[in-house]
Amino acid sequence: MNIQIINGPNLNLLGVREKSIYGDTGFETYLNQLRSRYANITINYYQSNVEGEIINKLHEVGFSVDGIVINAGAYTHTSVAIADAIAAINSPVIEVHISNVYKREEFRHKSLLAASCKGVIAGFGLDSYRLAIENLMNS
Ligand code: DQA
Repeated sequence: MNIQIINGPNLNLLGVREKSIYGDTGFETYLNQLRSRYANITINYYQSNVEGEIINKLHEVGFSVDGIVINAGAYTHTSVAIADAIAAINSPVIEVHISNVYKREEFRHKSLLAASCKGVIAGFGLDSYRLAIENLMNS
């Protein structure tokens, strides 16, 4: 099984950025834990702060991988183009958020991506990614 994780803007600063919201673990550290826990599957990782690069990655992998876990960061709330890219591809996509966006500012309550995704997981810290992978593995 082949799963692609895509992280959007500012998520390269996990472990450094607003630790009270996003925790103190860097994503690479968490990714190593995920890969050892799920040693029987391939977990590919891509991060970009650039909207078009995220779209290019969705196009590149979205017709071949078994599932995509995307945290589009703030683009979740603004990007019609990423929503269109998710709708255009074949692989199932799960939207994840580290924080519970519904407990935060109102502009974070709206996702432009969710309607094109299989489902949304938010508020479980980094464990949100694992929960998404569990779903992709069990479907
Ligand atoms: C986030 C929530 C977004 O609102 C925010 O812009 C992020 C991270 C999360 O994982 O909680 O960058 O997607």
